[in-house]
Amino acid sequence: MTDAKTAEPGVAVSMRAYMAEHPGLRYIFFGGKGGVGKTVMAGATALWTARQGRRTILASTNPVHSLSGLLGQDVFGRHTPVEGVPNLWAYEIDTRETIERSKAEIKDKIQWFLKFADISTRADEFVESATMNPAFEESAMFENMVDLMLAGAYDTYVFDTAPTANARRLLGMSRVYSLWVDKMLRSREEARSLRQMLSFTKKKEEDPLLEYLLRFRERMERARERLTDPAETAFFFVTLPEALPIAVITRFLSWFEEFGIPVGGVIVNMRISAAALGSAPPPFVLNRLRMQDEYMQTIWQKFDGQVRAIVPLFDEEVRGRAALERLAEALFA
Ligand SMILES: Nc1ncnc2c1ncn2[C@@H]1O[C@H](COP(=O)(O)OP(=O)(O)OP(=O)(O)O)[C@@H](O)[C@H]1O
Ligand SMILES: [Mg+2]
Repeated sequence: MTDAKTAEPGVAVSMRAYMAEHPGLRYIFFGGKGGVGKTVMAGATALWTARQGRRTILASTNPVHSLSGLLGQDVFGRHTPVEGVPNLWAYEIDTRETIERSKAEIKDKIQWFLKFADISTRADEFVESATMNPAFEESAMFENMVDLMLAGAYDTYVFDTAPTANARRLLGMSRVYSLWVDKMLRSREEARSLRQMLSFTKKKEEDPLLEYLLRFRERMERARERLTDPAETAFFFVTLPEALPIAVITRFLSWFEEFGIPVGGVIVNMRISAAALGSAPPPFVLNRLRMQDEYMQTIWQKFDGQVRAIVPLFDEEVRGRAALERLAEALFA
């Protein structure tokens, strides 16, 4: 498809074609600068896969109530069937609850360990220092996502990721986790054999901490395998025909390639449709259109072969089922 007026190369492999070429795709993520349309694209994609007959969950780790607003129904804290759409569930992850639960688990482990090592300190201090940092919260959210993915209750998982570099950092973390757990395991095993050597009773004792670390590593490894398999996972990057969002996804794309995380492609959002402007559009609008035309050239050059859809700027924000349907039509044209 070539647009004669602007001589644009056009979309080579569309969103629809990409989905057809990846029938086993299960984990779909959206990234990009703040406000570019990640949440609405995730919503439209989930609607589309559900319509294809795939049991789909649309999940958000975003602390803002974005999915509830988009769908016009409360989906906070639990898997909620989306009204009027068979096969579709939505779930806004409760960040606070997830973090509290992780803290409680860590506290258990620390208490057990202190007892095991005969240290008479209260666990609370350790728990506070281990959990009072943003990295802990992030890893708690990541674990929650992994649990959801590995539980396997759905055919398709569509994640509306946070606007920052979270996604990539989260995935990078699974490697860090693995290194960390290996190190922990070695020192746990040393401690255990030492204790067994020193103990009078020769009975083999249980080590819940070791069990936990082994299980944890196994889960992280499974998640990493899935998240780096292009048959199962795709990250889509949303941009506008504007300088900053393009710069942001350019950085994301190179990070993801470096990490071996599969990129599904680029979605261009809020493109002003020249055809919809009528015969005498105001100069303000014409200027915006010309600006977009120029950035579209940049997009075709930079993301050659990776553009999956050009979604028009609608005359209203995307909220509610009808608007989502319209967006899905444009995205999967
Ligand atoms: N093509 C479009 N036409 C008109 N409005 C749009 C379009 N795409 C998105 N919007 C609107 O733009 C706003 C931002 O979209 P959205 O919330 O999906 O962005 P986001 O990338 O998820 O933002 P955040 O980074 O804050 O999570 C919303 O009000 C949405 O309805
Ligand atoms: Mg959002």
